[in-house]
Amino acid sequence: MSKPPPNPSTTVLRTVRWLAVGAIVGLGAAWGVKFWSDSGTPPHAVATAAIGGPFELVDQNGRTRTEADLAGRFALIYFGFTYCPDACPTALIAISEALDRIGPAAAARIQPVFVSVDPERDTVAQMSAYVTAIDERLMGLTGTPEQVARAARAYRVFYRKATPQGSAEYLVDHTSLIYLMGPDGKYVAHFSHETPVERIEEALRRAVGG
Ligand code: NI
Repeated sequence: MSKPPPNPSTTVLRTVRWLAVGAIVGLGAAWGVKFWSDSGTPPHAVATAAIGGPFELVDQNGRTRTEADLAGRFALIYFGFTYCPDACPTALIAISEALDRIGPAAAARIQPVFVSVDPERDTVAQMSAYVTAIDERLMGLTGTPEQVARAARAYRVFYRKATPQGSAEYLVDHTSLIYLMGPDGKYVAHFSHETPVERIEEALRRAVGG
């Protein structure tokens, strides 16, 4: 008779799972550090005060927009692309829901902004259609590749094209952070597309009241 197979305890299973998670996080961090050191901007050395700054882009109506258009109001700023199948719609819908939850008076004090990291495909017309479909309160910004690159640098956002195997269309890997910026253009808080909408709502209430 053969011995019964070892029955690993849940503790062992848990440890194995944590090691796996740790390895994934570690790899991600190593990759992030490599990317940022390639571009000369280590993310953890950057103070949050350094997030934001001047930009010049074009909105979904073809109008030139700069950081001056956001002055005096809070802003929720998210970088992504309209063809994004997952993170972008999740983040933008969370923004939209959080604004709904705090009510119109408080929401009127916050400008939600979506900045394209895919200027090639995100034309003004494409951005207009997208913003109309997601939330009309959104300011959808795009521009020349250089304008987009400058804005992304200001917000410490990285992005790069990636074509999945067997796909004709490219995707864009990108930083998925929702920045809450103050009326003075300074960083207040950030969330990810995975932040529960209740947490975003709370942070917005704390910041603007309502
Ligand atoms: Ni995305």
